[in-house]
Formats: sequence, structure tokens, C-alpha cells
Amino acid sequence: MVDTTPSFIKEMPDALKQPVIKLEVKDLGVTYVGRDGTSIEAVRQAELAVLDKPGVGEIVVLLGPSGCGKSTVLKCIAGLIAPTRGEVWVGGVKVEGVGRDRGMVFQQYTSFGWLSVRDNVAYGLKLAGVPPRERKEQVDHYLNLVGLYEYGHLFPKSLSGGMKQRVAIARTLINKPKLLLMDEPFGALDPHTRWEMQTLILDISRQEDNTIVLVTHDVSEAVYVADTCYVLAPRPTRILHRVDVPFFAERNAALKAAPEFRAIEKQLLDMLYGSAQGTAG
Ligand SMILES: Nc1ncnc2c1ncn2[C@@H]1O[C@H](COP(=O)(O)OP(=O)(O)OP(=O)(O)O)[C@@H](O)[C@H]1O
Ligand SMILES: [Mg+2]
Repeated sequence: MVDTTPSFIKEMPDALKQPVIKLEVKDLGVTYVGRDGTSIEAVRQAELAVLDKPGVGEIVVLLGPSGCGKSTVLKCIAGLIAPTRGEVWVGGVKVEGVGRDRGMVFQQYTSFGWLSVRDNVAYGLKLAGVPPRERKEQVDHYLNLVGLYEYGHLFPKSLSGGMKQRVAIARTLINKPKLLLMDEPFGALDPHTRWEMQTLILDISRQEDNTIVLVTHDVSEAVYVADTCYVLAPRPTRILHRVDVPFFAERNAALKAAPEFRAIEKQLLDMLYGSAQGTAG
């Protein structure tokens, strides 16, 4: 079993450990059983711990090959499926189902087609009974954050793919989830829009105090956005490595061509597909 707990957590007194761990996945295993009784083991062993850094957003990436079980791990964190083995804890509370402390953004655009952009973003607050004036302030803030302030009156069908995904992000963020879970959120976008969206979530993580857990199979995306990257094995997946991505002062298009960026890409590629696969790091 690969122990992926950061060493500074292990060295803390027990009394201090609980409050600082925002997300803990313990000995997770998932086997799907079909109606005909056939079973598919998707997740063999996933174990990870993400610290709460008060006042600072953080991006954790789960990087793994296609079909390895990434979405399955994320759905367990979201509470959309129950694990076969193990547990997920968020902010010291065991996950037993979906909850407002976790928001999910999927690859497919999931905004409500019959509501305007503004009403899509306001939806969660309206359900929660937040008064109109406060709702408007919050909607203005989040439309600004995702660069859609001018487009609030439009309906999703008249937006580009990137804009639709901005609506989904704003609509989720406005509920102030502790964890923003993103499952290959930019997979359907063209390369330039994809890069713009990666830059947007970097901006968001610098402005909002929440933790983003982003699933991808794209190594370049992982290096560009991650503070911490977990490398997953092919199905049935397990966590092979935990990599702290160095702090890059400027994250922009030029960075992707820089030698220090390429070096980490190569390190992750070797872990995914190369000789390092199967060893603990
Ligand atoms: N509801 C389900 N019932 C049965 N098998 C499933 C179910 N969901 C996923 N699987 C299987 O579990 C394995 C892992 O699926 P999962 O969607 O978690 O992988 P993934 O890494 O997210 O894949 P992708 O890169 O294609 O998004 C696959 O073999 C898939 O066929
Ligand atoms: Mg998936």
C-alpha cells in the first residue's frame, strides 16, 4: 500500500490532525456489479489526504489514463456512489451521500436551458431562500469572476462551449462548497479555450478559499493547474505517486514551453506510462 499522507501531517500531534484535513480518502475500493452478476473492479486502492489551508485556494489533480477509474474516485468524493470498501471524509465528516459542501462540474455542460445565465447562477441561492438583494450581489460577484457579467441575460444555447462551462462553474461556486469537484471539465473545448479555462480556475483558486479537485488524463493540464498531483494506475486504479508541483510565479501560455515545465511533464509521463509505473514515490 502506498502511504500518500504528507510527512508533515504524520509528524503532527494527533489532536491537530483532524481540523486541517479537508479531504481524506481512506483505503477506497470500488467494484461495479452489473445486473447479470458480472463485476468490474474500477478502484483497487485509493488513499489521499488534502490539507485545509485557511484563506488559500488549492488545486489537487487526479491524473490517470483513460478508463482507469478517475471518475469513480471523484463520484465517491461527491457522494454520488457508495464505495465497496473504505471511506471518504470531507472537513471531518464522513461522506454518506451528496451534500452542499461539495459541488461538481462535469465534462458535459449541465446548465438549465430554460433559465438565463443569471438565473442559472442564482439557482442554488434561490433554493436556499437567500433574499433577492444578497442574491444579486452574489450573482454579480460570480458572473464577474468567470467573465460573464455582460452575458447574464442570455440563455445557455446562445453561448460557446467555454462560456457554458463558465456558467456551470459560477453556478457551483456560488454555493460556497468546501470542495469543487471537476471531472475533465475542459475535455470538450478547443486548445485555446481550454487554456483560458485552466487560467480561469487558477485565478479562482487564488481568489476563493476552496479546494478544487480536478480529474484529467492530460499531463500538460495537470502541471499547469496543480499544486499537488496524484498519479493513478490503469484500472483497477490505485495511487502510484503524489507529486508536489513547484510554484511557478507566472502561469501563462509561455510557461508550457519552459524547460522547468517540460521537466515535470516528463516526470509525470514516466510515472504514468514509463518504467516508474508500479513503484511508490
Ligand atoms: N456504472 C458503472 N457500471 C459498471 N461499470 C462501470 C460503471 N462506471 C464505470 N464503470 C467501469 O469502471 C471503469 C472505470 O470507469 P471510470 O469512468 O471511473 O474511468 P475514468 O478514468 O473516469 O475513464 P475516462 O478517462 O474514460 O473518463 C471502466 O472500466 C468503466 O467501464
Ligand atoms: Mg471519467
